This record gives sequence, structure tokens and C-alpha cells, in this order.
Amino acid sequence: MITEILDSSPKGIARAGELLRAGGLVAIPTETVYGLAANALDAAAVRKIFQAKGRPGDNPLIVHITETGQWASLVSSLPKKAIELAERFWPGPLTIILPKSEQVPYETSGGLDTVAVRCPSHPAARAVIEAAGVPLAAPSANLSGRPSPTTFAHTRAYLEGRVDALLDGGSCRVGVESTVVSLCGDVPRLLRPGGVTAAELREVLGSLEVDPAVTGGLRPGERAESPGMKYKHYAPRARIEIVDGSPEEFIEYVNSLGNTPGTCALCFDETEKYVKIPAVTYGSRYDRAAQARELFEALHRLDGLGAHRALAQMPGRAGVGLAVYNRLMRAAAFRVMTLPGPMVVGLTGPSGAGKSTVAGGLVERGFQLIDCDRLTRREDVYDSECIAALAQAFGQDVAPGGRLDRRKLAGRAFRDAGSVKLLGELTFPAITRAVRRELCGMDGPVLLDAPTLFESGLDSICRRILAVTAPEEVRIRRVMARDGLDEAEALARFSAQHPEEYYIQRADLAVDNGGGAVMDTELDRICAELKGDCR
Ligand code: TXA
Ligand code: MG
Repeated sequence: MITEILDSSPKGIARAGELLRAGGLVAIPTETVYGLAANALDAAAVRKIFQAKGRPGDNPLIVHITETGQWASLVSSLPKKAIELAERFWPGPLTIILPKSEQVPYETSGGLDTVAVRCPSHPAARAVIEAAGVPLAAPSANLSGRPSPTTFAHTRAYLEGRVDALLDGGSCRVGVESTVVSLCGDVPRLLRPGGVTAAELREVLGSLEVDPAVTGGLRPGERAESPGMKYKHYAPRARIEIVDGSPEEFIEYVNSLGNTPGTCALCFDETEKYVKIPAVTYGSRYDRAAQARELFEALHRLDGLGAHRALAQMPGRAGVGLAVYNRLMRAAAFRVMTLPGPMVVGLTGPSGAGKSTVAGGLVERGFQLIDCDRLTRREDVYDSECIAALAQAFGQDVAPGGRLDRRKLAGRAFRDAGSVKLLGELTFPAITRAVRRELCGMDGPVLLDAPTLFESGLDSICRRILAVTAPEEVRIRRVMARDGLDEAEALARFSAQHPEEYYIQRADLAVDNGGGAVMDTELDRICAELKGDCR
């Protein structure tokens, strides 16, 4: 079959619409991934999608619309929750499942009595749906089982010669497929995590169950609520193994393998420079949106390198990270290798968030604690070289007779941001060595309480990072009471620190310690999640 190559000019869009109306197949860009579209109401056209992709016929398709008005004819009822979700997240990366109307052929719904509907935001996708004049069924435009395409080049490599046309719309902004939520049961259910996060859905829905298949594999005999979840997915040619360890442990492990031809690392941007085997990156450890955007491209690059084994750095699961984790787990067929050594959890957050209370609660629940603030007050932490450097930087009288006068040092070092930074540069190596000494011999889960976790580089020895936050007015009150400051002084201190979002964005887990009774259940939840990871 000769495949036409179209662009998103009015001519290209009109041609795509024409082909689709006539029952053809056209691959189109969306904000998530490229999709392979056909008229959703035309059973014969939809059957061709399954053929072109090699997709099992019981795996239903998502129906794409541009206006909520088109929705009514596709579903048999439209509950209030569905309308609220649409108002908040459409157009955008959210798919909503409802009981289907008779108009939707069983070919489209994979034999189910429900239908998945999504209203994409990508201008070219919207223009094509409008030009076609019908709702479009569109699965991701990969061959079944392979990574979804996020660029035109991937789409072309999969589908040229198999479909009527391909429409070039550049790279996809989100990079992972839409979030799929079912409103067919009593409680809304997250079937596939994606660009819209579980927390965002909860803001609208109140309650939301997360299907067990989102984080784990299905156990034998267990039924997948979303048929797509039972199939092997997103797999590049390389065998992927997820390696669970801190960045430092990951680096040490992959480097210990030596240069085995065909073995590659799939790691975060920050890790790449330390890895001595060929590596492909998938975004910053601290930027989950970038991880989502880059993951599928990275899987394609592994194929390009001819990798037959890829060791992947474990992604965090917060926010859109859950979608990244879910796709990578599937690409790895759930193979996770947990490195030996303790589960070190970095605990951090802004002043007054109540880190110590959280630390106490986790110690009660079986964690061992390394308190960095306490370490920094211990004399034996600083060797003579470090002390000499501090004296050179802050005045000989901060170290009379070679012994550190901490009070005097604090007076000099905390006077401005530049001095604080210098103090850090000079002391972090000594503190890091002290932390490592403490860690020796610890084997259970360890909590590393470090207000400067990121600045010190101690984050690279943590497998997970837990941020503690609290509303600003609560933090102000706590800092005023604890350190005897007035409100202006407390605010001045905050303005010299990172904002709360800085910690939340970097953390795998966050706990809101605004005080009150929820703390115990929050800590139980976090503990269960972290211990579940200890395996
Ligand atoms: O972002 C996206 O959603 C992309 C773009 C092209 O829109 N499309 C996409 O489609 O990812 P696909 O077919 O690759 O994934 C659809 C997922 C599958 O896991 C499928 O099983 C599930 O949605 N699904 C579709 N209809 C369903 C239904 N009625 N009940 C349960 N799951 C359904
Ligand atoms: Mg797909």
C-alpha cells in the first residue's frame, strides 16, 4: 500500500478528513502520543486498525471527539462526575469510560458494553476530527506490543506501507498516553495513569480507586479491567530490567558489569556522566514531566543502539511519575532487581514543616534514623583539613587551636546566602563521610533527615525521597515558637529558602504535616508504600 505523507496545513488536514470519511486509516499526532485513526462508527474501518497494528481484537479503542456535544450519542448515560471531569480536563490527556450507546460498534469497544472517550487538545488532532466529521477511534500508532510513537519518525517507521496516510505534527508534548478512568462502577477507577495525575482526578472526583494492575502485574487468573493491561507492552527489542537502588548504587552496579557488548543503561540525565557503559537518558530525576516526554523516545534509542539488555534506573511514582513507572514496568515485563543494601529514604522539606515529627513517627514504625542536623553538631565529623579550610574562609578565630567554635562559625556563615553556600561546599564532604560511616552496618529501612538533602548531594545515596510540607501559616507559627522569631523574621527566613514546590517536585512521596489527626494514617500509608518497596 502506498502511504500518503501529509502535514498539518489546511490541505493536509482536509485530505486526512477525506480519507477517514471514506473508511481509511490515518495516523495523526495528539498531545500524548501519535494515534492511528479510523471512523469509530464504521466497523469495517475499525477492523483495519486491528489488522494494521497486529492488535488483539478484544483490546478496545479510544474514541476521540472535539466537543462534549458529540459525547451524548456515544454513551448510554452521562453522569454528573463525567461532565465535571470533562469541564476540568478536556481538551487534554484524559479518557473517560462509560456504558456505550448502540451507535458504537462492538469492533470499537473490543466486545465490551462500555466505551472510552477522549477529547484531545492537539490542534492537528482536533482539526482532523472536525474535517472527518465523525468521532475517530485511535489507539497509539505503534505496532502492538512495541513502544508508543511520540515523533513522526517513529510513526512512519511503524506504519508506512500499512495505512492510507501519516500526518506529520512534530513531537508529542506529554509523551505518555492519556489517563484512563472508568466511571462504570460504584467508585471511579484509574485503569491507566497518564498525563492527568491521580491527585488531580481526586480533586474532582473525591474518591478514586487505583486498579492494582497500574502498579503491579496481574496475578495468574486475575482479570484485567482494562483489556490493554493484560498484554505485554511498550517493549523495545532489548530486555529491560529495572534496577532499584539509589543513583549511587545504580552507577556502581552498572559499572561493575564492565563493558558487555549489547548492555546499556537507561538512566536519568544526572546519572549519565558517571555511567561507563553506553547509556540512554530519559529526563531528569527531578522532572517527571520530562521523563514522561522522553521515555518512549529513549526506548526507541535503545533499539537504535542495538541494545539487547538495558538496565533502567527506577523512576519515582509521584504525579505523572506514576505513568512513567507504569510504562517502564510493562516494558520491563515487571522485572525489578533490588540491589543489596538498606532502603535509604531521604527526608527533607522547608523550615517548620515538621520533619522531626514525621521522623519520629517513622522511627516508631521501624525506621532507623540518621539526623544530619545532629551530625553537623558533632566535633568528630570535621577532620583537620576541613577545619583548616573553614578557618581560611571564615577567619582563624572560628577554629582557635584547631578546634571548631561552632557558635562563632555560625555567626559568620549564616550572614548571607554566599556564606551559607561556601559553608556547604566546605562541610558537605565531611558530613557525607559521616553519614556513610553511620550507614555501615544498618540494614533495615533508614531515614536520612537532611534539610539540605539536595544541596549536599546526599540525595544520590537515597532510594526514595520523602518531602514534608505544611501550610505556610502553620510553618510560620512553628518557626516563631521554636526559634523565638517574630513574624517578619520568620518570613525573611522562608524567603531565603526554597519554596515548598521545590521539595514536592523532587520527592517520591510527600506528607502534609499541617498537624491534626491525619498524621497517623498518612504515616501508615507512607510506611506501607516504602516497606512494600523493600521487598
Ligand atoms: O493518549 C492516548 O490515549 C492515545 C492517543 C492516540 O489518544 N491512545 C491510546 O490508545 O493510548 P490505546 O489503544 O493504545 O490504549 C487504550 C487503552 C487500552 O489499554 C485499552 O484496553 C483501554 O484504553 N480501553 C479502551 N476502551 C476501554 C474500555 N471500554 N474499557 C476498559 N478499557 C478500555
Ligand atoms: Mg497503546
